[in-house]
Amino acid sequence: MAQEAPLLRVDECTVSFGGLRVLRAVSLDVAEGEVLGVIGPNGAGKTTLFNTICGFVRPDSGALSFDGRRLDPRPHQLTRLGIARTLQGLGLFPNLTALDNVAAGATHRSRTGPIGALLASPWAERHELKLRDQALGMLGSLGIGDVAHRHCASLPYGVRKRVALARALISEPRLLLLDEPAAGLSAAEITELADIVRGLRQRTTVMLVEHHMEFVMNLCDRLVVLDFGEVIAAGTPAVVREDPAVQRAYLGEAVAADA
Ligand SMILES: Nc1ncnc2c1ncn2[C@@H]1O[C@H](COP(=O)(O)OP(=O)(O)OP(=O)(O)O)[C@@H](O)[C@H]1O
Ligand SMILES: [Mg+2]
Repeated sequence: MAQEAPLLRVDECTVSFGGLRVLRAVSLDVAEGEVLGVIGPNGAGKTTLFNTICGFVRPDSGALSFDGRRLDPRPHQLTRLGIARTLQGLGLFPNLTALDNVAAGATHRSRTGPIGALLASPWAERHELKLRDQALGMLGSLGIGDVAHRHCASLPYGVRKRVALARALISEPRLLLLDEPAAGLSAAEITELADIVRGLRQRTTVMLVEHHMEFVMNLCDRLVVLDFGEVIAAGTPAVVREDPAVQRAYLGEAVAADA
């Protein structure tokens, strides 16, 4: 039986900044429906890999494909293509409410043109109301519906991280990229986040970068390990954890779920 094409394929992508080669012929596949973890020491190139997939960085060589078609993304087209991401920081508008931040993630679905908005046509108004309803529903489904009307600046960090996740999800992506979603969260919040991501796999494919080993080992179906811009290992968490090259890259840090 022919193997199903991956949702995302990164094929031999090389990226340099000035003279510094940050990704070296990186290849990986993400299958539809899986949770793929990308791990590796600081500076390994993980965020650069996400930036390449999102079109913020153009590879010197290599190619990307998404859903069987060549992917040559411009960042503003991403949500329309079916790709959404959260940033390593928060990337929220601090002076907007949680609800407005989430609604902003669905702008590609807002078909109200400038003229429609100026005329405040009933159709545009209905559309905006529907969008806000969806944003409210999304916040509720992540357990933070009660903060919808609070400004993001006044919310605890863990809640803001969840607002950022809701904003990425509102565009109903086929591929969701999460850059360090567990960073800065308490142990209890990390456990909750793992449950949320497990729940997401019904509706989207997830690729995540994370340093928190217990989180990735327990959550991800597969891991890809980057070190100095190169893929040094790939496979199930159990296989990757035992890989000598991975252990060397982490210089003796325990790469174990109970670390
Ligand atoms: N825009 C840029 N210009 C120049 N160098 C960059 C740029 N972005 C990243 N780098 C360099 O590329 C390398 C990889 O950075 P990247 O942010 O991808 O690593 P990372 O694996 O995400 O690290 P971390 O775990 O600390 O987030 C680093 O040496 C970094 O300093
Ligand atoms: Mg990074």
